[in-house]
Amino acid sequence: MRIVICDSAQDATARTAARLVTQVQAKPDSVLGLATGGTMEAVYPHLVAAHRGGLSFANVTSFNLDEYVGLGPDHPQSYAHYMRHHLFDHVDLAPSRYFLPDGLAPPKEASDAYEDLILAHGPIDLQLLGLGHNGHIGFNEPGSSLTSLTREKALSHKTIDANSRFFSSDEAMPHSAVTMGIGTISRGKSIVLLALGDGKAQAVHAMVEGPVSAFCPASALQMHRDVTVFLDPDAAVQLELRDHYLHAETIQRRREAERQP
Ligand code: F6R
Repeated sequence: MRIVICDSAQDATARTAARLVTQVQAKPDSVLGLATGGTMEAVYPHLVAAHRGGLSFANVTSFNLDEYVGLGPDHPQSYAHYMRHHLFDHVDLAPSRYFLPDGLAPPKEASDAYEDLILAHGPIDLQLLGLGHNGHIGFNEPGSSLTSLTREKALSHKTIDANSRFFSSDEAMPHSAVTMGIGTISRGKSIVLLALGDGKAQAVHAMVEGPVSAFCPASALQMHRDVTVFLDPDAAVQLELRDHYLHAETIQRRREAERQP
């Protein structure tokens, strides 16, 4: 894992977005894995700005991590709606090229169909991830199999508490989602994860420095060959090897600068 402790949340967000931009520049027909949630809201404007600056997404294919069971694409809290609002409506990515699980289909059918679709178009070149307070990635809550495929998962109380802020008080929040599994996510060639704020610090520590365990699903990323984790200083406060990651990153950046023509 490459652990990049940035100067600020803005810096970490911009560097995460830059990875996506560089990926599409280098391979215009990239298959991207995309994420939603509060943290990602600040990532997508960078992609929209890159598009306005000339970057085309016309040949990209994208797969989102998850969708709430019971919410159709026009529901304002659905992740399909979120993605149109934050990204898809503002770039030249045709609706036929972006995919999310079908929140209205029977979950087993929606899950199997989504897994097949990813296999047919994949592998995912670059998978974007956020991190749940409890260490979830996608909606793979603690206890998830580390080789799981796309399926319906019950949301934990912690996740329901965290995400109910997006739903109005008279609206029932779904208690399950169809999510890519950890095995599905792990097939991505490269993974970039963004975590911000001290509320994520414990999960970041467990993900990076804890044992590989279903108790912290994100710890499965330790087994992946190409993961970059962008953090702000608050999200990094519980890392025991924090100084080492800063030191390693200084060397990494020096090497990158030397490679520049
Ligand atoms: C959403 C997703 C989730 C979020 C995570 C963090 O597609 O997959 O894993 O990334 O719950 O959410 P925020 O950024 O709202 O803290």
